[in-house]
Amino acid sequence: MSRVLAVANQKGGVAKTTTVASIGAALSAEGKRVLVVDLDPQGCLTFSLGHDPDKLSVSVHEVLLGEAEIGDALLETADGVTLLPATIDLAGAEALLLMRPGREYALKRALAEIADDYDIVLLDCPPSLGVLTLNGLTAADELVVPLQCETLAHRGVGQLLRTVNEVQQITNPDLDLLGAIPTLYDSRTTHSRDVLADVSDRYDLPVLSPPVPRTVRFAEASASGATVLAGRKNKGAEAYRELAANLSRYWSGAELVTLEG
Ligand SMILES: Nc1ncnc2c1ncn2[C@@H]1O[C@H](COP(=O)(O)OP(=O)(O)OP(=O)(O)O)[C@@H](O)[C@H]1O
Ligand SMILES: [Mg+2]
Repeated sequence: MSRVLAVANQKGGVAKTTTVASIGAALSAEGKRVLVVDLDPQGCLTFSLGHDPDKLSVSVHEVLLGEAEIGDALLETADGVTLLPATIDLAGAEALLLMRPGREYALKRALAEIADDYDIVLLDCPPSLGVLTLNGLTAADELVVPLQCETLAHRGVGQLLRTVNEVQQITNPDLDLLGAIPTLYDSRTTHSRDVLADVSDRYDLPVLSPPVPRTVRFAEASASGATVLAGRKNKGAEAYRELAANLSRYWSGAELVTLEG
């Protein structure tokens, strides 16, 4: 059975997609069978893994609506991970799903069909708390929340945690919130560190180690569709490899390494 990890935060631009692509590539390099799912109609994950959303005829949209088999939508990527891609059609799925009973379970049902083919499934949620993110949180075993360590970047965390709480009460009692992943981190400023300490105190949220520093390479990688962890030594890629190893050890029974402990 595969383990499903959702990466969600309704705030835009906090590195959800970068986190899914990078941790996915790192786990794949460790020898794991990895599936990544693009749940964002913008298709940024799809694009960053080398596929053009405009040229796809089958995507997660048709799978969620029951119009295609999940197996027919999967694509291979240069990073070694398998991709369930998104196209702009997914923007319409939101409205179409809303009219259906059991709308939060569409992704969970689709993933059940391929549960034995992957060790880990990573879900890239869109920047909203709509029905697509609810599908992600309902299908997931675990959740991590990327947080950008800047002023007020954590406004909205309370709202996200309330949504997680509702999901745990209604559609997915087993959902496990692992913690926050600090992204776009600038260790030279005490400000980044203060924001983190504040978030972990205020929301009683573990902060996973290590933080991911801001590096120029990520912008280059997402623009080129090249392998995210490839290229010369890069502190951001290094941090994601360590985070992936931290998660791997946790899944094998070890404690998660957090910044406090
Ligand atoms: N560690 C980093 N250093 C520098 N730039 C980064 C880093 N991580 C992400 N970025 C850049 O920040 C931008 C936003 O990242 P990303 O698309 O992963 O965020 P997101 O949370 O998925 O956004 P959205 O909410 O729109 O889906 C991108 O241009 C990405 O290349
Ligand atoms: Mg994104």
